[in-house]
Amino acid sequence: MILALETSCDDTCAAVVTHDGEIRANVVSSQGVHATFGGVVPEIASRHHLELVNAVVDDALDRAGATLDDADLIAVTQGPGLVGALLIGVATAKALAAARRLPLAAVDHLQGHVAANYLQPHPFEPPFICLIASGGHTLLARVTERGGYEQLGQTLDDAAGEAFDKGARLLGLGYPGGPALSKLAAEGDPAAFDFPTGARVAGLDFSFAGLKTALLYKTRDLGEDETRRRAADLAASYEHAIVEALVARTKRALAAEPEPRLAIGGGVAANRLLRQRATELGVPVHVPPPELCTDNAAMIASAARFAEPTAFPGYLDLDAYATAHAHAV
Ligand code: KG4
Ligand code: ZN
Repeated sequence: MILALETSCDDTCAAVVTHDGEIRANVVSSQGVHATFGGVVPEIASRHHLELVNAVVDDALDRAGATLDDADLIAVTQGPGLVGALLIGVATAKALAAARRLPLAAVDHLQGHVAANYLQPHPFEPPFICLIASGGHTLLARVTERGGYEQLGQTLDDAAGEAFDKGARLLGLGYPGGPALSKLAAEGDPAAFDFPTGARVAGLDFSFAGLKTALLYKTRDLGEDETRRRAADLAASYEHAIVEALVARTKRALAAEPEPRLAIGGGVAANRLLRQRATELGVPVHVPPPELCTDNAAMIASAARFAEPTAFPGYLDLDAYATAHAHAV
């Protein structure tokens, strides 16, 4: 079995997964503390990972009815993410692996999101176009084999989930505000306001910074009372712009495929409008269950199944990396 760790942001995650992709345990400990600050505070995230990681690993093994003796491979997210947070997972994984002379697989976080699609009981096999949209990343990729992906587009500034969160903050909805903004949007008119969808960005890349600024100016124009009165319309129009931006690029990517199929992942995959618009594209669509769309370690274990692990002691000097790099097949 594979024991996997994921600590790239504010969730401390451990999972036990078989080499066939069957999930035996998938534990996520979310650090609610960041809501107080309206966003993730990196130093606090690292400290919490350090406090939680051993208990989360023990919990995952317990729930799987397993011990460390059952693990023949340790997997861990190497990047991209918050470096201090990643290092807690990497150091823990190295210690677990080295103590038992096990091999270690260093996994790219985005490849993890893509590999969430390969888990049992409903694995979705390549080829497909994959849209990953979360608080930390926005990626459009072509997947032709399970060991990697070809990046087609990414965000040039804010991530899609970040755009939801920043919009929610402007409308006074708390953090993370995506679900609250989406709920409010259900009562509003998506055509009430015209927000930019980043259409000027060429190719398959995304841009959400202009959208957030447009909402800021709109709320200033309207003033406090009117903003409150029209909050549902503002939320609906804003959500519409984010989803249309995602859908337009996805549609363009699918149009270039001989056999178009789509997988969606990341926290924003929970968005009702995005899911609805995706099913209207007329191609087979796969969305992993919500707990596999948001950050988790089962997806990291899944990616490790198709990676090349490093044998002991080759990984002892393994380092984390903060920023995404092109990850070609
Ligand atoms: O994947 P995730 O849990 O963590 C990251 O890796 O970032 O994604 C969290 C993001 C947040 O920005 C949150 O606001 C957004 O996903 N999100 C949503 C919805 N549910 C979560 N955005 C829009 N609509 C939703 N229903
Ligand atoms: Zn993620």
